[in-house]
Amino acid sequence: QKPRITVVGSINMDLVTITTQVPKVGETVFGNRFQMNPGGKGANQAVAAARLGAHVQLIGCIGKDVFGKDILRHLQQEGVDVSNVEPVTGSTATASITVSDGDNSIIVVPAANQYVTAAFVESKRAVIANSDILILQLEIPLEGVEKAVEIAKENGVTVILNPAPIQELPSELIQRIDYVTPNEHEQTLLKQGRSKEELDGKLIVTKGSQGVSIREGNKEINIPAYRIDVVDTTGAGDAFNGGLAFALAKGIHLREACKFGNAVAALSTTKLGAQTGMPTAQEVEKFIGSQE
Ligand code: RIB
Ligand code: NA
Repeated sequence: QKPRITVVGSINMDLVTITTQVPKVGETVFGNRFQMNPGGKGANQAVAAARLGAHVQLIGCIGKDVFGKDILRHLQQEGVDVSNVEPVTGSTATASITVSDGDNSIIVVPAANQYVTAAFVESKRAVIANSDILILQLEIPLEGVEKAVEIAKENGVTVILNPAPIQELPSELIQRIDYVTPNEHEQTLLKQGRSKEELDGKLIVTKGSQGVSIREGNKEINIPAYRIDVVDTTGAGDAFNGGLAFALAKGIHLREACKFGNAVAALSTTKLGAQTGMPTAQEVEKFIGSQE
């Protein structure tokens, strides 16, 4: 049976400029290329898990505009269940992304994502209750995230929170989460004003080319990243989270699940765009095999 993964999160249109020169304030430069790709941390994680073979429910909002229509069609083609993606008045969220030398910087305009409120999420209670794993990020209102966690916990659903972009998070929220997956920058802020115990056994830190670190008891364990020729790292964190969720839902042990996530992330960076390079489970197995 396919693992059932629910993602409550953002759906963006990525407006990507590929450039060798990045402009400073007040400066104009020429770029090399422009591309529009479906993105958003929520949608990216949903596509990652769907390509791997999970049954994925995405809960979120799009605008009643061209971007929204395009994205919906695209998600359907990816096999993501979009019956709980709702069109709202106004525009679809956008992410203006500059890719230079494989690295990126991003500005997100939340627009329709702001409609993913507690009330909206409450209206999707049955979908969340009926899943093996729930994945969340922080591109929707925090109250929506909190409501989703509440529903998941009432129903014994495992929760992964990818705390991106990072913001202050109430302790009650952290307490109820099973895994939290910050990058190094997010981890620093996440740890501020918090006791070690609060994050004990939950923390999975993604460190780009350094891999991922977890703790088992008192030991910090590093799960190394795979080396690969990088085209675009946009969405690599999302690929990791989708892969991690998929592996955990299949009952795979945390350490192995992180290794699987690392492979998903590595493969995702070989293509331009956040979702384009997301691999299938067969591609991941083949890749891991070729690396051993
Ligand atoms: O994590 C990558 C994503 O962040 C992009 O797809 C963009 O939409 C932003 O949300
Ligand atoms: Na990519």
